[in-house]
Amino acid sequence: MFTQTRKVVRILLIGDRSVGKTSLILSLVSEEFPQDVPPRAEEITIPGDLTPEKVPTCIVDFSSLEQSDSMLEMEIKKADVIALVYAVDDEDTLDSVTDHWLPFVHRTLGDCQRKPLILVGNKVDLIDYSTMEAVLPIMNEYEEIETCVECSAKNLKNISEMFYFAQKAVLHPSAPLWNYMDKE
Ligand code: GTP
Ligand code: MG
Repeated sequence: MFTQTRKVVRILLIGDRSVGKTSLILSLVSEEFPQDVPPRAEEITIPGDLTPEKVPTCIVDFSSLEQSDSMLEMEIKKADVIALVYAVDDEDTLDSVTDHWLPFVHRTLGDCQRKPLILVGNKVDLIDYSTMEAVLPIMNEYEEIETCVECSAKNLKNISEMFYFAQKAVLHPSAPLWNYMDKE
């Protein structure tokens, strides 16, 4: 039986500006919504015994204000899982998931390589509908998307779940990812 020992799970958050990447990280860490957010959160490692899967988890923010595309490429290659964030109240940010971010990740990793990815719709506190209908076709098209979750950094809804799903995507990936690995 194949057992996996992993020292750390590295989660990278990417997505359009102002979707709430930094707020999500700071909300997770401090368990309250930060009023003033820097463009980029410091890289943090959550000790294994504080995570559901008991594996130390490193959370990495990305800011296009402070970082170049080549730094982003480097971080994408280093990450174990990518959390691709959009804002549920801003359709343009979901459009750029397919127009910009997923193609960028594909170009960076090459066509035969896949890394697990989760789609994160932030700011659900601002709407009273769901964006899942728009997200499902994207999940069908891109097999590396392990799961999707709607959350809110503001009222802390689904924040720990979101990071748990990212961890789980690395530690217990679903079949398609293993198929990709078999092809390599
Ligand atoms: P960049 O660093 O510029 O790429 O943006 P970012 O994705 O890190 O977004 P940031 O965390 O800076 O948040 C942008 C704005 O959205 C801030 O004014 C936050 O207070 C606000 N915001 C973040 N998350 C939420 C949320 O869940 N609900 C609401 N209502 N506002 C949020
Ligand atoms: Mg930020």
